[in-house]
Amino acid sequence: MRPADLTRRKQAGLPITVLTAWDALSAAVVAGAGVDAVLVGDSLAMVVLGHATTLPVTLEEMLHHCRAAGRGLAAAAPQDPPLLICDLPFLSYQCGADAAVAAAGRVLKETPAVAVKLEGAEPETLAVIDRMVRSGIPVMGHLGLTPQSVHQLGYRRQAGDPVSQERLRRRALALQETGCFALVLEHVPAELATELSASLAVPVIGIGAGDGCDGQVRVTADLLGLTARQPPFSPPLLQGRSLAVDVLGRWVREQGPGTAGAKAVPAPATRPASPAAPH
Ligand code: KIV
Ligand code: NA
Repeated sequence: MRPADLTRRKQAGLPITVLTAWDALSAAVVAGAGVDAVLVGDSLAMVVLGHATTLPVTLEEMLHHCRAAGRGLAAAAPQDPPLLICDLPFLSYQCGADAAVAAAGRVLKETPAVAVKLEGAEPETLAVIDRMVRSGIPVMGHLGLTPQSVHQLGYRRQAGDPVSQERLRRRALALQETGCFALVLEHVPAELATELSASLAVPVIGIGAGDGCDGQVRVTADLLGLTARQPPFSPPLLQGRSLAVDVLGRWVREQGPGTAGAKAVPAPATRPASPAAPH
C-alpha cells in the first residue's frame, strides 16, 4: 500500500479503512483484520501512555512506537502490508519549517512509516506541509476536532455553524492544494463531511463524521473497548476491558493458596552472603 493506492480506492468507490496501532501486537492484530492503513496516532499518549491529553508525547516516543508497529506489520503481513502512517506529535512541526521537515524526515528514515499526519491548516502549517511534500514526504491532513488544540477547542464537535463550516471547506481545499494525499475529518457534521468527500479529489477519512466519507479511521483500543471510556462518536464493538478483567480475574482466583503453597521452595540452610543492607 502506498498513499496513491488510497486515492485509487476512492476513485474506484472502494471504502478505505484505517485503524491505529501502538506496538507490534496491536499492529499485527489490525493487519490481520485486513485494514488498508495503520496509523500510529498520537492518541497513544492517552491510550497507552496514560497522559491526560495527546500533548506530552515526544517525537522520540512516537518513533519508538512506530518502529514496534512496523515490526508487527512486517511479521503479520509480509507480502502486502498496510500503509503505515505516523502522527507528528505536538511541537514537532510548530517550531519552524526546517525543524518540521527534520522531524518528519526522522519518521521516514528511522521507522518503516511512509507518511506522516499532522493537524491543522494555519498558514504556517500549510507552509510546513508544502516543504514536506516538496521534500518527498507524504502528508495526511487532519481537521475538525484536532486534539493537539484541546486547550482551545476542547473535545467538542467542530464546524457546527455556517461560518466555521465555510472555514473548514477552505482549509480542506487548502490542504488538498498544498499536496496532502488524504485528510482526516474528526467530529464534524456528517453532511459537511459527505459534501467534502464528494468535492475533494483526495480521500476524506472520517471519525465522528458520519457514514458518507471515503473512509473511516478509529482508535483500535476504543473499538475493542479497551480504553476506560470511549468518545460518544466512536462506540466500542466489544467490551474488551471488562472481558479481559473477567477472564484474568478468573485465572487469578484459580491460583488458590494450596497451589502456591505446594510450589513454595524452602529457603536454603546457608544463604550466600548478600550485599550489606543500608541501616
Ligand atoms: O491519534 C489518533 O489516533 C488520530 C486518529 C483519531 C485519527 O489522530
Ligand atoms: Na492524532
